[in-house]
Amino acid sequence: MDATLISREKTAERLLTASAKHSFDPDTELDWEAPFEEDAWFWPPELVSLYDTPLWRRMPEEQQRELSRHEAASLCASGVWFETILMQLLLRHTYSLDPTSAHVRYALTEIADECRHSKMFARAVTKFGTPTYGPTRLDHSLGRILKTFSTTPGSFTGTLLAEEILDWMQRLTFPDERVQPFVRGVTRIHVVEEARHIRYAREELRRQMETAPRWEIMLTRTMSAEAARVIARSLISPQVYASVGLNPAEAVAAVKESGHRREMMRHSAKKLMDFFDEIGLLRGPSMPLWRASGLL
Ligand SMILES: [Fe+2]
Ligand SMILES: [Fe+2]
Repeated sequence: MDATLISREKTAERLLTASAKHSFDPDTELDWEAPFEEDAWFWPPELVSLYDTPLWRRMPEEQQRELSRHEAASLCASGVWFETILMQLLLRHTYSLDPTSAHVRYALTEIADECRHSKMFARAVTKFGTPTYGPTRLDHSLGRILKTFSTTPGSFTGTLLAEEILDWMQRLTFPDERVQPFVRGVTRIHVVEEARHIRYAREELRRQMETAPRWEIMLTRTMSAEAARVIARSLISPQVYASVGLNPAEAVAAVKESGHRREMMRHSAKKLMDFFDEIGLLRGPSMPLWRASGLL
């Protein structure tokens, strides 16, 4: 076995050991029957899309908290969408690899994690009692194109974009005492298990980028920049605003103008963008697309 394969197996073995120790069954881990607390937020207010805008300041606190419930539900529904894509990409990744390798056993373990997460997020949406938000039809179709045609490096950049942005938000959510204990429970489970997924994807992506031919690197730059744009705009469905009695066009415009929101989105992707830069993804003609994603 060459050195790259040995290090790949070592990482996978370590991740398998960690998975055996710290994995959760959300169906039994969380109290699904407990009623929501009266005055608690469903998402930290600073992470709600309208936070700190003139429109936000005009909203009574009850309406702000209600918006946090719908945005948490939107993030959960997008989470299911991202994970459905990701599970398919991971399974495709294993298709031509040795099924007895630790690398493949870990990929299957990760798919099992994502299965539990998607069930958890879907069940959370039901508990929130909101509509099932999701991507627009266009983005839904773009997701289908990505998951059908992306090659391995593109699959792992897409994975990291969805995982690291949500992970950054969830790391602020689970310790936040203003937030509903149920939401803190959901985000805690996700943060613990996603740390392993991020490690796996980052290391594999680095290996892939070192050996990928020039055409594949070019393709990966463009496809991941497009994925970044789609993922960033799919986190919060514009329908959440109508659900809480706001004018969606006015709310979307307020979010677009919000310096706070721009900063939040950039912060959420900062570490990942540094990593992408380091492995040579932020180069060439894809740069305007990266900038349009609002993550750079
Ligand atoms: Fe997940
Ligand atoms: Fe994940």
